[in-house]
Order: sequence, then C-alpha cells, then structure tokens
Amino acid sequence: MRPTDELTAAERRELIASMRPEDAEGVPALGELDVPAALREQIETAMARYPQLRSAAIPALWAVQRHYGWCTPQGVREAAAVMGVTPAYLEAVATFYDLIATSPIGRHRILVCHNISCWMNGADELLGAFCDAAGADRDDADQHGASSADGEFFVKGFECLGACDIAPMASIDQRYYGPLEAADAVAAIEALRDGEEPLSDKALALRPAAGGPDPSATERAPDAEGHDA
Ligand code: FES
Repeated sequence: MRPTDELTAAERRELIASMRPEDAEGVPALGELDVPAALREQIETAMARYPQLRSAAIPALWAVQRHYGWCTPQGVREAAAVMGVTPAYLEAVATFYDLIATSPIGRHRILVCHNISCWMNGADELLGAFCDAAGADRDDADQHGASSADGEFFVKGFECLGACDIAPMASIDQRYYGPLEAADAVAAIEALRDGEEPLSDKALALRPAAGGPDPSATERAPDAEGHDA
C-alpha cells in the first residue's frame, strides 16, 4: 500500500470511505508467528512497566527497529501478537514518530541538527559534509532523510535535539557529538565504515559532568543479538 501522504485528496477520500470496522485486521495469533525470543523478551519486559499494556507501543516498536533495522511489516505483526493489539494500532503509533522508521534506512543513523543554534554555527555545511562523505542525497537529507546507496548510512537534517550548547551537533547511532566541523563528518563516516567508534573526543557521553566523566556512560546498550549498537 502507498503511504497515505502520497495519495491524492480523491484517493484519500476513497480510502476513508472504504474503511469499516470489519476491514480492520485482527490481533495476530502469537502461535502462528515465529517471534524471535530476544525480541519477544524485550517487548514483554516493556509491557511489564506499564499498567496499560498498550502503553508499551513505543518501546515495542523501538525493539522491533533495533532487531530488524526498521519497523518491518512482519516485525510490527510480531510485536502486535506479543502485545495483543492489532498491527494497525502499532502502525498508527509508528507513523507518528519520525524516529521510528517504517521503511528501510541505512544501518548507521546520523541526525544533523539544523535548528537555530546549530544553523548559526554551520549546520548546513555540516549536513552537506555528512551527505558527501556518506554518499547520501543532500536535498533529500534536508527534507525526509536520505540513505546511502550502499545501505550503510541514513542522514537527516533534524530539528533541535536539545544539545544546543554543543552546536553544531549531530546524533550518530543515538549518541550525541559536538561541536562538529566538516572534517569531523568525514572522520565519523570513515570510523563507522571501519567499524570503529566515531569521534570519541567529541562524544557528549564522554564530556566531564559534575564530578567528572562517568566511565559507565560509554557503554552502549546491546542489541537483540547481544552486540553493541
Ligand atoms: S539547535 Fe541544535 S541542538 Fe538545539
């Protein structure tokens, strides 16, 4: 099915008119799906934190994304089966949040803040440098995000990431780095290609906080297969 934001107004009216409760897909039967044990455990752990199980939708989708790289239709069905909700419910949540990917994206996700503080400090040049180094389309990156042809990188211009004091900054695989220069973008992409930690001297997690750096802050949460993210 095409994304609804690509439909014409007439197509959208037709789609809405076609919707009936009986059209809605039911809750998938857990026994009919081969849900990976690690994924199921992560979702059930999230569900245990909330009085309303449906409230675990975001952590469940995040677990799917970590497991499959993005929220695949099959992964969403698996999460729905574990949670006892319809896939449509989870899809509605997933499509609302732009940190949840509902289509394939590059393996390493780079969000370059281009809001006011970062923009005034060179975010446009930084975004361009990341795109050039990764091989991602600059215009697409600024709009909806762009993946490199080799599938290794996803680069996206993003609104304020809440770290204006290190402007211009970027989030690389969920970790913050800044202040960054164009040369840092090249170095980061090279490090990621080599399977190394990027820009350790610019990692927010390694900056001294009150009382000094916390060594435990350098540890990454393992993914579903036990590998560092
Ligand atoms: S403006 Fe870039 S982090 Fe706030």
